[in-house]
Amino acid sequence: METIQTDVAIIGAGGAGLRAAIAVGETDPKLRIALISKVYPMRSHTCAAEGGAAGVIKPDDSLENHFNDTVGGGDWLCDQDAVDYLVQEAPRELIQLEHWGCPWSREPNGSVAVRPFGGMIKQRTWFAADKSGFHILHTLFQTSLKFPSIQRFDEYYVTDLIVDDGRCQGLTAIEMRSGQMRQFQARAVIIAGGGAGRMFPFTTNGAIKTGDGMALAYRAGVALKDMEFVQYHPTGLPNTGTLLTEACRGEGGILLNKNGRRFLQDYGMGPETPVGKPQLKTMELGPRDRVSQAFWHEQKKGNMLPTQWGDCMLLDMRHLGEKAINERLPLVRDVTTSYLGVDPVTDPVPVRPVVHYMMGGIDTNIRAATPLAGLFAAGECACVSINGANRLGSNSLTEILVFGRRAGLSAAEYVRSGARPGNDAALAAKATAAQARIRARFEKTGGKESVAALRKEMMTTMERNAGIYRSGDGLSEACVKLGELRHRYAEVELTDKTNVYNTDLLQALELGSMLDCAEAVAASALARKESRGAHQRLDFVERDDKSFLRHSLAYYHPTDPPRVEYRDVVITKSQPGVRDYSGDHQ
Ligand code: FUM
Repeated sequence: METIQTDVAIIGAGGAGLRAAIAVGETDPKLRIALISKVYPMRSHTCAAEGGAAGVIKPDDSLENHFNDTVGGGDWLCDQDAVDYLVQEAPRELIQLEHWGCPWSREPNGSVAVRPFGGMIKQRTWFAADKSGFHILHTLFQTSLKFPSIQRFDEYYVTDLIVDDGRCQGLTAIEMRSGQMRQFQARAVIIAGGGAGRMFPFTTNGAIKTGDGMALAYRAGVALKDMEFVQYHPTGLPNTGTLLTEACRGEGGILLNKNGRRFLQDYGMGPETPVGKPQLKTMELGPRDRVSQAFWHEQKKGNMLPTQWGDCMLLDMRHLGEKAINERLPLVRDVTTSYLGVDPVTDPVPVRPVVHYMMGGIDTNIRAATPLAGLFAAGECACVSINGANRLGSNSLTEILVFGRRAGLSAAEYVRSGARPGNDAALAAKATAAQARIRARFEKTGGKESVAALRKEMMTTMERNAGIYRSGDGLSEACVKLGELRHRYAEVELTDKTNVYNTDLLQALELGSMLDCAEAVAASALARKESRGAHQRLDFVERDDKSFLRHSLAYYHPTDPPRVEYRDVVITKSQPGVRDYSGDHQ
């Protein structure tokens, strides 16, 4: 097997991976960086982010406001030292992107424009029309090209971390073009592989978001933290699940039920302000968990509009006018017109909640380090935790920048502080074992199961039992079913046994990742007997700080369900309180 020697191997070349690579390159040009991604960097899911990135910039705002909005929005499950770090670093990172060429939208006076976003009491979301992720990704990608020390390995699928002598020392990856396995020996590894929304059938997440990075760390013994917290975005296109950015509401769009009522005023987010006037009350700018939960209640009351795509609410932006929609929400207009045949300039757009983001992920500390020496993680695949039980919209683009950079700095520091060279023979033996495992799967005959069938059963199970509201019975059923699917997964036979771009193999490996992540979600959700943020239990309706102001930590077992343990939340200055969104919003 060909071996590639590097100093820092980075898995994933989206926003967090690219930002990490740049940070390593800036720290020490002599450090060799292998940037490994299963897709070309510009196809990473960061590209799909629309609304913007939060960071305090206007004089009427403060870091304290950003901190309080984030901690309260996260239902006090955030680690407050990490949130402090995020809000302090955010403005510097966003200005840095400006200097690297990110075309932030401007105010008429030429200063950077910000827009309101859900759960934030002040306007602090920087944006580039409604293509913020695309522009951020482009900016990072073109900046990364300046560093000769960054060597890209595009379209490589990482199968295993190599752990020896108690530390992570590399990985194995399949070069998709040839089907050949490669060994990467690295002194530090950063995982920046994104989320796992594809466990669910209806999601804003691109097809690549299959939890591979999370699964790699999990199988190597690192816990997945707070996996029960799955975010639904309230406004997805009802047919494709494509995101309709929260910026639609930030710009003044309103949500109506089938009776034409701005129903959010009935769920503690009102009273309403007149349409077309500046939004002074929370209303449509409530936090995502609360807004999505309101949809669920309205459906139970029969207040949603039946459509050919299922029950919907209406997102009305007509009063914004064509000029504003074209300037601030051009992608939204394009998407609704192309995929739904509805022009927001002339008609309200049907929407429904859609799985959008995993608050949980690989257990990391404020330095983006996992408990496994030599292994770091950042971005959606990681749980640092700044999002707690419910992420506020526009904090994640900021998170990939702030903690992507932090992961790069920490990994560089770890390598420069003298990470010992590995034992070549031991590492090669581990890589060979990984190769043999994949080959056994690849060459297997007589298997009774197909990837497509198992994936469908997994998705149905997750949607039915781990959605906006959950129950103990439903979650128990999910745990049993997912355990069964994991066993049946061993019986999958590939239909394509060729080498070159074998997407059948790729999808089988991705399914393995998703099944592991899904089990961690279900087991952690079953164990959390309270309702907090995005985790709402019909059988335990109250938040229970006495028992559950703690992070869940799910540990992998190759044949049994995960073991769930807990760790206290870091609280520095904000004691748990009541989340009140009935007040003013500016
Ligand atoms: O609605 C949005 O534009 C999504 C933003 C986010 O998830 O941060």
